[in-house]
Amino acid sequence: MRKQLEDIQKAALETIQSANISSDLEALRVRYLGKKGDLTAVLKQMGKLSEEERPIIGQLANAVREVLTEAIARQSERLEQAALEARLASEVIDVTIPGTPIQVGHRHPMSIVLEEAEDIFIGMGFQIAEGPEVELADYNFTKLNTPEGHPARDWQDTFYLSEDGSIVLRTQTSPVQIRVMENQPLPIRIISPGRVYRKDEVDATHSPMFHQIEGLVVDEGITMADLKGTLEILVQRLYGSGTKIRFRPHHFPFTEPSCEVDVQCFECQGSGCRVCKGEGWIELLGAGMVHPKVLEGCGIDTNVYSGFAFGIGVERMTMRRFSISDLRLIYENDIRFLSQF
Ligand code: DAH
Repeated sequence: MRKQLEDIQKAALETIQSANISSDLEALRVRYLGKKGDLTAVLKQMGKLSEEERPIIGQLANAVREVLTEAIARQSERLEQAALEARLASEVIDVTIPGTPIQVGHRHPMSIVLEEAEDIFIGMGFQIAEGPEVELADYNFTKLNTPEGHPARDWQDTFYLSEDGSIVLRTQTSPVQIRVMENQPLPIRIISPGRVYRKDEVDATHSPMFHQIEGLVVDEGITMADLKGTLEILVQRLYGSGTKIRFRPHHFPFTEPSCEVDVQCFECQGSGCRVCKGEGWIELLGAGMVHPKVLEGCGIDTNVYSGFAFGIGVERMTMRRFSISDLRLIYENDIRFLSQF
């Protein structure tokens, strides 16, 4: 029996030490030490032994049990350690690898210029007013002294949204003037930025959708000099103090007198090029003294009050500000273009 026990120990130690997964180890424990295991099988034969031999073999059997139990524990520890090391090796994180850059967008040059302009006007005491892009033709034209059949409707007659022609995508921000004069107490000093729609073909300076900033001041004793001073401050602050502008007589149905204001071409500094179509100047805005008919239509007493108004093209303002020579670049939203500003 002693020989049997020694054989079991020898064979068991070998297999335990070569086990390389923990489920194998558990199977070995059952096989050698379990109730139906090899060791128990030997112990069951103890009855055949003599009185003297029994304690000796019993001791030996216990010693074998201890040795094997310890061997299993040690091998199990070794397997756990190896598994941990394998995991650490496979999950290694190199904290020095540069991170994946997060693509953040860029403020659009139009937004930059719009905010600059809003700041300048707010600094002069203007408030910001809003109006609908889907507008009543009445507000877009009629109340602006442009009744049906008026020739000035022609070049703007465009995106009507109702069969009877009473609703239109606004062609200018000027209808906001009417909404403000009808609803706000005097004096008035507002700007109103927003989108407008025309039947223009797309080219380097035109688009069927573009942006304007409408301006309106109504108070006692307002004159053309106030208009000129306000626009000069705007242009000098936006483009620098040396910037040249010129006032040209013009006609708008809702102002009298009317003018257009040009800024010297940023591309050629006035000598004439493709951008300014050889003019040397780029039209920036239309303006004038609010027509008495328009004021009176909104219930304003023209014996006491007068006003000036203007409508600036925001795209043109932006192109001049950043020397952008093609309007289409503004709408393409190419990040390589946008991130230059
Ligand atoms: N609404 C005009 C346009 O779209 C621009 C304009 C001219 C606005 C004169 C005004 C103004 O307020 O007084 O061409």
